[in-house]
Amino acid sequence: MLYRNLCIENSDVLKDVRVCEGIFSEIGENLLPSEGEEVVDLGGCLMLPPFIEPHIHLDSALTAGEPRWNASGTLFEGIEIWSERKKRLDKADVMARASEAIHRLAVHGVQFVRTHVDSTDPSLVAMEAILELRETLRGVVDIQVVAFPQDGIMSSPGSAQLLEQCLRMGADAVGAIPHYEFTREYSVESLNLVMKLAEKYGALVDVHCDEIDDEASRGLETLACRALESGLKSRVTASHTTAMHSYNNAYAAKLFRLLRLSEINFIANPLINTHLQGRLDTYPKRRGVTRVRELLANGNHVAFGHDDIFDPWYPLGNGQPMDVIHMGIHVTQSMGYDEIMQSYRFCTWEAAHCLNLSPTDYGIREGNAANFIILNAKHWYEALNVRAEVLLSVRNGKVIARTSPRQAECLIPWLSK
Ligand code: FE2
Repeated sequence: MLYRNLCIENSDVLKDVRVCEGIFSEIGENLLPSEGEEVVDLGGCLMLPPFIEPHIHLDSALTAGEPRWNASGTLFEGIEIWSERKKRLDKADVMARASEAIHRLAVHGVQFVRTHVDSTDPSLVAMEAILELRETLRGVVDIQVVAFPQDGIMSSPGSAQLLEQCLRMGADAVGAIPHYEFTREYSVESLNLVMKLAEKYGALVDVHCDEIDDEASRGLETLACRALESGLKSRVTASHTTAMHSYNNAYAAKLFRLLRLSEINFIANPLINTHLQGRLDTYPKRRGVTRVRELLANGNHVAFGHDDIFDPWYPLGNGQPMDVIHMGIHVTQSMGYDEIMQSYRFCTWEAAHCLNLSPTDYGIREGNAANFIILNAKHWYEALNVRAEVLLSVRNGKVIARTSPRQAECLIPWLSK
C-alpha cells in the first residue's frame, strides 16, 4: 500500500509512505508504485503518530449523575460519589462503559491508553474487567493498567494488600494518592511502599500526586527522590501535581533540580483540573494546572490526558484529544506560534515517553510498525484550530477507524464560496 502526498509531523516537504506487512517499509519523496500496488493520494494531509490517552479512568467513565451529580465540583465530592457508585459495579457494567469510552477515543485517533483502575474495591471486579478488555484489544488499542488506590493506601484498611493483588493479577503499573492520605507520614510511607512494589513486580509507576491546591502538599519531592535513588527514573510518572501551581518560587526552584535529576515524567489533565481546582478560592481563583512550560524547559517530559469522561469528577468529555490540547495550551499560556505547532506532542510523543512505549511501536520511521493517523488539515495548527477529522487511524497497517469530512454549507448569498 502506498500513501502519497503526506505532510509528516508538519514537514515542509510532502512525502510518500509505503506500508508492507504492517510495517513502514519505505518513506521518501515521489515513490513509484510497484506493479499492482494500491495507491492512496492524501493530497497534502497531515500524518502524525497515533494519539495517546496517557491518563484516564475507564472504570468510572460514563457514570456522571449516578447516583447523584457532583454539586460542589470538587475532587473530594467526586470521591464520595464514586464510593457510592462503585458498590454496585459488576463486570458487565464496567466492560460496557469502558468499551464505549475506548470507542470514543479510537474514532479520534487514539491507539494507546493508560487507564487507572480503582484498587480499593475489595471485589476487584473493575480490575478484572479492564484487564480482560486489555487482552481483547491488544495490538489494536493497547491499554496499560495502573492499580490506583483511590481511597489511599495507609489510610484505607486492606488497601496495600489489594494493591499488591492487582499487580499479581497483571496490572502494568502501580499508583498512589499521597495528598489524600491522613498524614504527611502516611503520604511518605505510601510512596515508599509503591516504589518497593514497582521493583518487586517490574511495574511502572504513575502516582496521582498532589492533586490539591494546598501549597504544603509535597508528595512530589518524595516520589522524585525515590525515583532517583531507586534508578526507576523515567519509569515513574507524576500525574496532576496541581499543588505545584501554588508552590512558592523559591521552593519550586530547589525542587526543579531534583525533578531534572530524577527524569520522572508528568501528566497534566487540563480539562478536569481547571474544573476541579481553585474551588475553595474566592478571587483570584487559581488555574490549578501544573507548571507545564517550566517542566518542559527543565528537560522533563509532560503529556496531557483526559483523566475523566462524563463521571463524578468531570461532567463532559467525548474522547477528543484536541479538546484536551486546546484547553491545555490556553491554561498554560503556551500559545506562541511554535508552541501551537508543537502542541500535538502532548498527546503523542510526550505521552509515548510517559508510557515507556517501545521505539519500534511508535514513530513514523522505516522499519517501525505502521501505526499512524491522517488528519484532514495541512498542518497541526490548522488541525487543532478547526478540530480536523481523523480521516484514517491505521494500526499495524490496518485501518481501525475512519471519519468522512464534515460538509457544512453557508446559505447566505454574499458569504457562500
Ligand atoms: Fe486521575
